[in-house]
Amino acid sequence: MQHRQNPKTFRVKSFGCQMNVYDGERMAELLAEKGISPAPEGEEADLVVLNTCHIREKAAEKVYSDIGRLKKADGSRPMIAVAGCVAQAEGEEIMARAPAVSMVVGPQAYHRLPDMIERVTRGERATDTDMPANAKFDALPRRRRTGPSAFLTVQEGCDKFCTYCVVPYTRGAEISRPFADLVQEAERLVDAGAMEITLLGQNVNAWTGEDHAGRPIGLDGLIRTLAALPDLQRIRYTTSHPNDVTDGLIAAHGEIDKLMPYLHLPVQSGSDRVLKAMNRSHTAESYLKLLDRFRAVRPDLAISGDFIVGFPGETESDFLDTLNIVEAVGYAHAFSFKYSPRPGTPAATMGAQVEASVMDERLQRLQAALTGRQIMFNTASVGRECDVLVERKGKNPGQWLGKSPWLQSVYFDGDAAIGDLVRVRLVEAGPNSLRAELIRQAALTPG
Ligand code: 5AD
Ligand code: SF4
Repeated sequence: MQHRQNPKTFRVKSFGCQMNVYDGERMAELLAEKGISPAPEGEEADLVVLNTCHIREKAAEKVYSDIGRLKKADGSRPMIAVAGCVAQAEGEEIMARAPAVSMVVGPQAYHRLPDMIERVTRGERATDTDMPANAKFDALPRRRRTGPSAFLTVQEGCDKFCTYCVVPYTRGAEISRPFADLVQEAERLVDAGAMEITLLGQNVNAWTGEDHAGRPIGLDGLIRTLAALPDLQRIRYTTSHPNDVTDGLIAAHGEIDKLMPYLHLPVQSGSDRVLKAMNRSHTAESYLKLLDRFRAVRPDLAISGDFIVGFPGETESDFLDTLNIVEAVGYAHAFSFKYSPRPGTPAATMGAQVEASVMDERLQRLQAALTGRQIMFNTASVGRECDVLVERKGKNPGQWLGKSPWLQSVYFDGDAAIGDLVRVRLVEAGPNSLRAELIRQAALTPG
């Protein structure tokens, strides 16, 4: 491999979940701190980081085709780093198959990117897929810039081993970041302008720590502490596992105004037989009972979920159970996927893999049902007054876009600015957004 010049500009392309988006932002901060500038929109970058996702179909193939397309106008290639979960899972293979790639860096090792870049400039290729718990966070630079809505990773990894999922292998065992680090990072985000913080983790509600007095606390305790930051207005968290929901977390939804009325709680399937084969360790009924408890303290809670259709052995009757749970819950929002065998997971070698055409058909029916519920949820919001956190300008002049407490996209015309929390009346619902009328700037809630 030839020596390469130090890159002057970079671009990070993130795929997949919010955790990856967060990682992408942190990598960008790290590179900027080391004097490499973000490439302006539309311009070529000297260094491209492909921050990949491995969770669903053809992830690796997509990475190879992305690598193939990364060429500058003069035919030369940028320095290429493959990061994220495909890097973790298939690092060696990427190095063997794609000579254009100079670096492979796993999700727990990206704080070492600057050293790796230096090695590349000396003519080496660099791979780092170590998984040192928490080292990454300690090594990353302070966060100085943020939009009104910021992510904060509090927990990583997963010990649940759902039989279809690669996350326990690519992201490793569950670790919780220390309480004091999180409070400090949250304070910095607020100082940098964040009005809303979304706490992230593969199993965010498995977060545990010790508060300032050394008492053991769970996610609800962390949320309570953050709610006391005077300038922080909204707190969200994602993604939760039904088995790690605590009484305290449910109670928090009834007690903490800044905790938004939104819960992403994947169920994956409505069939107990399939749930068992998935190793989800909850049933359709236990899931519904759990939601009842949340709704008892917060009746307007918006529920969101993830679904997989066509898990090995799923019959039409199993699938109808899934449609039934969609009706029973009344989801405000959901993600739904066709099952895709992930190499190395137990489900990949199970018998009775479902035919592609059957999966397609089930996915269409499920998505029609979910879209119907989403429209119902949005339509039922019409007439409501609520606060909207303004995140960006809309398409038309004078128009603004933001989020309702229930995470709906809301647009309105009027006098506002990015980062404002405004009071609106929701007046018209579409499947993916609502139109609102501005009432006034909202009263801010002190801690
Ligand atoms: N096939 C299809 N969907 C999957 N998910 C995870 N693994 C797979 C897979 N092998 C979905 C689950 C999970 C979401 C993040 O991705 O629904 O909740
Ligand atoms: Fe994957 Fe299941 Fe862990 Fe979620 S809970 S990350 S689906 S193994």
